[in-house]
Amino acid sequence: MTSGSEPRSRGPEAGAGQGRGRHVVLGVSGSIAAYKAPALVRLLRRAGHEVRVVPTAAALRFIGAPALAAVSAHPVSTGLFDDPQAVEHVAVGQWAELVLVAPASADLLARLAAGRADDLLTATVLTTTAPVVLAPAMHTQMWLNPATVDNVATLRRRGLRVIDPASGPLTGADSGVGRLPEPEDVVAQALDLLGGPAGSDAGAEGGEDLRGRHVVVSAGGTREPLDPVRFLGNRSSGRQGVALAAAAARAGARVTLVAAYVGQDVLADLPAQVGVRQVGTAVEMEAAVRQAAAQADAVVMAAAVADYRPARAQATKIKKHTLPRGDVPEGGGERPAEEPPPVITLVENPDVLAGLVQDPPRAGLVVMGFAAETGDEDGDVLAHGAAKARRKGAHLLAVNAVGENLGFGDVPNAVVVLDAQGHEVARARGSKQQVAQALVGLLARYLPGRS
Ligand code: CTP
Repeated sequence: MTSGSEPRSRGPEAGAGQGRGRHVVLGVSGSIAAYKAPALVRLLRRAGHEVRVVPTAAALRFIGAPALAAVSAHPVSTGLFDDPQAVEHVAVGQWAELVLVAPASADLLARLAAGRADDLLTATVLTTTAPVVLAPAMHTQMWLNPATVDNVATLRRRGLRVIDPASGPLTGADSGVGRLPEPEDVVAQALDLLGGPAGSDAGAEGGEDLRGRHVVVSAGGTREPLDPVRFLGNRSSGRQGVALAAAAARAGARVTLVAAYVGQDVLADLPAQVGVRQVGTAVEMEAAVRQAAAQADAVVMAAAVADYRPARAQATKIKKHTLPRGDVPEGGGERPAEEPPPVITLVENPDVLAGLVQDPPRAGLVVMGFAAETGDEDGDVLAHGAAKARRKGAHLLAVNAVGENLGFGDVPNAVVVLDAQGHEVARARGSKQQVAQALVGLLARYLPGRS
């Protein structure tokens, strides 16, 4: 067993966002799912946290201490007597701001429920005052056994959070409940305990973080007219932007909402003190946002701004056969070759967000954007988000996965916040209101101090 040493001083790993890294102890017990421990460490570190791994002796039959030490960049110790002078069972528990045990075997749950302290992990759980999250992984029959059921109930009664295991194929030929949930899910649920009510590590406490600040929020979808009755638009409801404006106002900021199309029912959720400027098109949005930003500390671009607009908006209603005709489609299309299809020519709209970054209307302006992404053959959601973060250069970019009923409509959101280099700085999940509160807390920490 590798000898442990005094835990390192506080501070995030390289690449962590804005000094917000927390100390996380990852306990690993004897289950085949222990092989997922390095993935858990990587996710925690990528979120900016410093991680010490404390495996049980049984865990080391499934995963080697050198691998755990390498991914965590910390020595790994298991026993109480590896380095007695360091009084590790107390030191590690005190160092921890969060203890996550994943996987937690049936045996470990039993030992914790009994209050045992016969190795470094159980002793750490007994000494720590930090929140403790247990992610069980075991065979279905062990999970459903009344002994385990009682142990889980005991631990939950004492305030430890026990994550429900997932269902699916088990180690043997059978399948059922008892699998360790996906590492992303385990980490997200664990980090919920580090944040405020938003269930995030973005750090919003809902306090008066923004008193004396002016925040501009854009919301809704722009409408790009074709003629007096028709437009090119999108499905944005404006709810996320309205929730952000409301959260910023609750945090004490003076708030200007630049609203493209937002339903009246959604606007009804706005606190009365939020000033609203209604706009229609992307060009109008750019002018209104830049004007308001000239007196602001921060701009949050939550609006769905159309990338293109029709080159010509006609003053009178377009008649069916008066649109310009394009080329004849290959193969002739559905119409005879002598009748080419109607064409709408588009021109590019300004990128409001990128413009605010490249040419800020006020020095020190902090800019936050949003990116709704889907994964494709060129990369996953985060890869696309990171590329967009680098391309646009906003201080913060909140990325959410869309499709498969994620992120659209009135369903819970999960966002990963990236900095201008595409590095992850925070995660937030929950309702749009909870996500908004978390993001506003994060924004407050990015604002330069007042002199
Ligand atoms: N945005 C903007 N002006 C535009 C387009 C987008 O200010 N013309 C802002 C949005 O408000 C959002 C961020 O940029 O904060 C990302 O929007 P998105 O539509 O994802 O970016 P696009 O550059 O349009 O990228 P894509 O190619 O994925 O559509």
